[in-house]
Amino acid sequence: MKILAFNASPRKSKGTTDVLMEAFIDGAKKSNTDVEKHHIVDLNINGCLSCFTCWWKTPGVCVHRDDMDWIIPKLSEADILLFGTPIYGRNITHYMQRMVERTFPLSLPEMFAKDGQTSHPSRQQRKIPHLVLTATCGFPDLNNFDQVRALYPTAVPILLPASQMLFNDEGKEYLSDFLEAIRLAGQKMAEGDEIPGSLKDKLIVEYSDEMKSTVIKTHNLYSASRLE
Ligand SMILES: Cc1cc2nc3c(=O)[nH]c(=O)nc-3n(C[C@H](O)[C@H](O)[C@H](O)COP(=O)(O)O)c2cc1C
Repeated sequence: MKILAFNASPRKSKGTTDVLMEAFIDGAKKSNTDVEKHHIVDLNINGCLSCFTCWWKTPGVCVHRDDMDWIIPKLSEADILLFGTPIYGRNITHYMQRMVERTFPLSLPEMFAKDGQTSHPSRQQRKIPHLVLTATCGFPDLNNFDQVRALYPTAVPILLPASQMLFNDEGKEYLSDFLEAIRLAGQKMAEGDEIPGSLKDKLIVEYSDEMKSTVIKTHNLYSASRLE
């Protein structure tokens, strides 16, 4: 079992998205799993130029020579693709978007329609890895993840609003069951098992109105104390 992981936070392992990703990896490592994780900010990934060279001039090969040269073949070898992103402007970060756009060479130019949806077929007969999407945001409301969930409907979502809770002991304690659920999901997926619905529910944190008020008050006090 191979897990390929990409963290799209510029805070890398000092951030909160990485805590969730590491919990998943921790669980997965309980079985014989090969894990490779990268922080996208450390990679050299140029933006897509929309030149369509990868479709018509050098099919399957992009004009850019950068880290996507090794990432593209690796994507097809992975059994599980673990993406982590903070929410920026209610969406994935541009680090992740840039990487996703550069997977364009993996598709063929032809269009085909299936179940009322038009798309491009895959260039290779490759196995489609299971996608796990961990995302964190600062506001306590789950609807900050709406865009991301709509973008990746087949992904297993692991979602943490008000992720700053992870920066203090009380918050970490409050989220300990959530982190344990992520570990269990990692272990199950690495063993090739389905994640039961009851466990999937535990991978998404939803706060009560009272908890949301506490998050807002705590944030405003902290923010006032930080002002220079
Ligand atoms: C530029 C920017 C835009 C952001 N936009 C949102 C947003 O739309 N909604 C939200 O809830 N949090 C937003 N946040 C907060 C981050 O999502 C939050 O701090 C995240 O958990 C950081 O993840 P990290 O610790 O892994 O870097 C934003 C933060 C930044 C820096």
